[in-house]
Amino acid sequence: MSESTPSSRKNIVILGGSYAGISVAHYVLKHAIPTLPQTEAYQVVIISSASEAMCRPACPRALISDDMFPQEKLFVSIPKQFEQYPEGSFRFVHGSATAVDHDQRMVTVRLEAGKTETLKYHTLVVATGASTPSPLFGLNRDEAFLKEAWVEFRSSLATAKRIVIAGGGPAGVETAGELGEYLNGRAGFLSSQLDNPKVSITVVTAGSNILPALRPSIAKTAEQYLAKVGVTVIKNTRVKGVSPPNAGADSSNLTTGATIALDDGSSLEADLFIPATGMTPNTSFLSQILLTSTGQVNTNLSTLRVDAAGPRVYALGDVSSSARPAVHNILAAVPVVGANIKRDLLLAAGKSESEVNVEKLFKEDKRETQMVPIGKSKGVGAAMGWKLPSWMVWAIKGRDYWLWTTGGLWSGKQWAKESK
Ligand SMILES: Cc1cc2nc3c(=O)[nH]c(=O)nc-3n(C[C@H](O)[C@H](O)[C@H](O)COP(=O)(O)OP(=O)(O)OC[C@H]3O[C@@H](n4cnc5c(N)ncnc54)[C@H](O)[C@@H]3O)c2cc1C
Ligand SMILES: *[C@@H]1O[C@H](CO)[C@@H](O)[C@H](O)[C@H]1NC(C)=O
Ligand SMILES: *[C@@H]1O[C@H](CO)[C@@H](O)[C@H](O)[C@H]1NC(C)=O
Ligand SMILES: *[C@@H]1O[C@H](CO)[C@@H](O)[C@H](O)[C@H]1NC(C)=O
Repeated sequence: MSESTPSSRKNIVILGGSYAGISVAHYVLKHAIPTLPQTEAYQVVIISSASEAMCRPACPRALISDDMFPQEKLFVSIPKQFEQYPEGSFRFVHGSATAVDHDQRMVTVRLEAGKTETLKYHTLVVATGASTPSPLFGLNRDEAFLKEAWVEFRSSLATAKRIVIAGGGPAGVETAGELGEYLNGRAGFLSSQLDNPKVSITVVTAGSNILPALRPSIAKTAEQYLAKVGVTVIKNTRVKGVSPPNAGADSSNLTTGATIALDDGSSLEADLFIPATGMTPNTSFLSQILLTSTGQVNTNLSTLRVDAAGPRVYALGDVSSSARPAVHNILAAVPVVGANIKRDLLLAAGKSESEVNVEKLFKEDKRETQMVPIGKSKGVGAAMGWKLPSWMVWAIKGRDYWLWTTGGLWSGKQWAKESK
């Protein structure tokens, strides 16, 4: 198939095959390429470490068992989603970008098969996302690595009596809620907490509340729901050190017992430790001068171009400095990147300013928006500044952790219409 068959066309290279990369690829193939004077002169190339895309938000529940979700919906083949486009217009490269020379406009890729390939790009989109310290929460390498981590975690879950989760953000809270309900069940209607839970589960957060993106009263409700499934929250406390230092973070010590030192001088013993703090943007292949001090791609907040990288270079998603890392921000960024790629390609193909659309500008919606299921029937959250009742969080997210939305995203149906 198209894999590893370079063409003489102008490459529109997209690094990363997840929410951001797959969406931009569909958008460009549907709405930009067909408008260019010489359609056959271009090829969209996705370079991705993983050959499958997955519904990342589902990880806190999916890690417990393959029975939680239909696996063929949870993981889908990336190249399959692009068979709908004309021969030669798309190529999938299974490998990791290891270097981008933005002066020569070249990308070096370590192919999955072991070899190295260097490609010239006409347009570049950086969409390599961010990695979590725990390998349980996404495609830190590829789908095989993620599934292996889940298998190992599950086998230890059977005997674990003490689980400690560092981090009071949504990943930590959702994982605690799922594990609590699965291992301990739920306290009766009239009890405020589950007494003597089978497995002790502790969430440690440095914050004065869990879920800092939501107002404190919503966070308090989440804490009550957690208590109902036997989860204890320790607030205002930082994890100072973990022994062994890579417990829960490295595949060699993913399920080792650990001692967790806290900054109040006390310590916790865990049979399983899950670090759920801190994302690392995947930017090791880019020159430092293109990055912010926190390691994200320094992106123009309006146009989503990477101005310092030369013409026709863009970034979006968790790797970019353009917005808080969340899917709804990516969905808003895709039509902006798509429209600006179209405009820039038309100009580069010789069209004049008067023949092309003006730049499309991005503006992050900063209203309180986050949904956090706590087990299979409860949840807390807010959308566009409005507090949501538990049943609505369940209906929108908790029921299947957004799996109802990913089919149309991966297949490109979501991007059938060009946004004006
Ligand atoms: C546990 C958890 C729960 C979440 N829940 C929600 C939620 O409910 N709602 C919400 O809006 N957001 C949620 N998020 C955030 C959401 O998952 C991210 O915003 C989204 O996945 C970001 O998509 P992305 O395309 O930017 O990158 P990612 O999803 O991070 O994917 C990046 C891809 O690029 C690949 N890649 C990395 N480096 C390279 C390289 N050098 N070369 C080639 N390919 C590379 C990776 O393998 C990966 O496939 C959650 C995140 C986590 C971890
Ligand atoms: C992303 O970056 C992290 C940290 O540098 C690294 O551990 C991880 O393997 C990278 N992921 C991919 C898919 O290259
Ligand atoms: C894993 O933990 C053990 C201690 O339990 C430690 O000796 C070892 O070095 C750790 N492995 C790695 C790869 O760091
Ligand atoms: C972002 O891009 C616009 C349009 O090219 C430009 O006018 C503006 O100065 C850029 N912003 C920054 C902060 O460089």
